[in-house]
Amino acid sequence: MSGFGNEFATEAEPGTLPIGRNSPQRVAHGLYAEQLSGTAFTAPRGENRRSWLYRIRPAAMHGTFSPYQQPRFHDGFDRGPVPPDQMRWSPLPIPDTPVDFIDGLFSMAGTGGPGAHEGVGIHVYAANASMQGRYFYSADGELLIVPQQGRLVLATEFGVLEVEPQEIAVIPRGVRFRVELPDGPSRGYVCENQGHALRLPDLGPIGANGLANPRDFLAPLAAYEDLEGDFHLIAKFQGHLWQAPIDHSPLDAVGWHGNYAPYKYDLRRFNAIGSISFDHPDPSIFTVLTSPSDTPGTANMDFAIFPPRWLVAQDTFRPPWFHRNVASEFMGLVHGQYDAKADGFSPGACSLHNCMSGHGPDAATFEKASAADLSKPDVISGTMAFMFETRAVIRPTRQALEAQHRQGDYQSCWAGLQRNFVPPRG
Ligand SMILES: [Fe+2]
Repeated sequence: MSGFGNEFATEAEPGTLPIGRNSPQRVAHGLYAEQLSGTAFTAPRGENRRSWLYRIRPAAMHGTFSPYQQPRFHDGFDRGPVPPDQMRWSPLPIPDTPVDFIDGLFSMAGTGGPGAHEGVGIHVYAANASMQGRYFYSADGELLIVPQQGRLVLATEFGVLEVEPQEIAVIPRGVRFRVELPDGPSRGYVCENQGHALRLPDLGPIGANGLANPRDFLAPLAAYEDLEGDFHLIAKFQGHLWQAPIDHSPLDAVGWHGNYAPYKYDLRRFNAIGSISFDHPDPSIFTVLTSPSDTPGTANMDFAIFPPRWLVAQDTFRPPWFHRNVASEFMGLVHGQYDAKADGFSPGACSLHNCMSGHGPDAATFEKASAADLSKPDVISGTMAFMFETRAVIRPTRQALEAQHRQGDYQSCWAGLQRNFVPPRG
């Protein structure tokens, strides 16, 4: 179903959804009615997100939670000193033993914390097996999933979403799901947004259309599993993982209606907008989704992409400029090559440029762009980089700081920049 944040209604069996009410005395087909609220009951209408699910059993039915050990997936953002270095990591290696999506998650960095409902957790995953008899939800935030290698089949309470690299999926806070890996070895990025739910950015003078258009967001049709067995429900709650036995599939909603639901988006549909005169706009022009903070114009988290596009600006250094920024920037690359770096940043890699840490094109990119023939347009094709940008400092986990795949020599990409200054002789 197409549209962003719409009031959807869908049923996998005819006659499931009640008409004209949400909670009839007896729900059709012997189902239970249950509301899932993603915002406070009293949130203003334009902000309010909730859905009604009509399910075989209520979500309350499961055993007692006990701690689940997956020590690489957590919110332990290092409380010690954070080096202000620019940082970069090579792709997380794909495991050589069977590992599913949950056990394949590796926490990289984050800000804030789930207790205050603000900040983000940034994770990568490398996995090669589908989740078997295991279901997951996060009470800590919504999950923005950016696959880089391999498709994901996300079987959720609301139906099934299939996403491939260059597409994204968002699973709202609390929604239960499991992940199948139809292509085997798979890798990608996950941003757990613990603040206000992601939404489309305002467009201001751009007008009524452009960037990510609402009709390109897709929500699933209702689909359910009627399964009984010895299964497990894994919860992420306050930065820790918990596991409870459950004797049935929790993906048992036969119908649902509302505006709180998983969705997917194809990044190749993003309408990139840039300069047709000189300079290029700030990278906020590439924002796909934003999680606002309580300070207007200052996001808890922005998700921006660097998609294929034409560069036509005249008398302009066309790649991203050198800069320092009060915000903090975590980048990844889904496909191709990123235009500010000649090498070292391959698909699946990550970089982190924290508050006020200088960064920009590497020496090779600077030399090439400074000598480029600007009488011709330049096309950037076959690429898809992205950024999770936050207003707060992004604190790496200890395991990320000490990871074998961290590139200890990242700083050297700027070492070749020449001193070109020639003072004028008066
Ligand atoms: Fe930057």
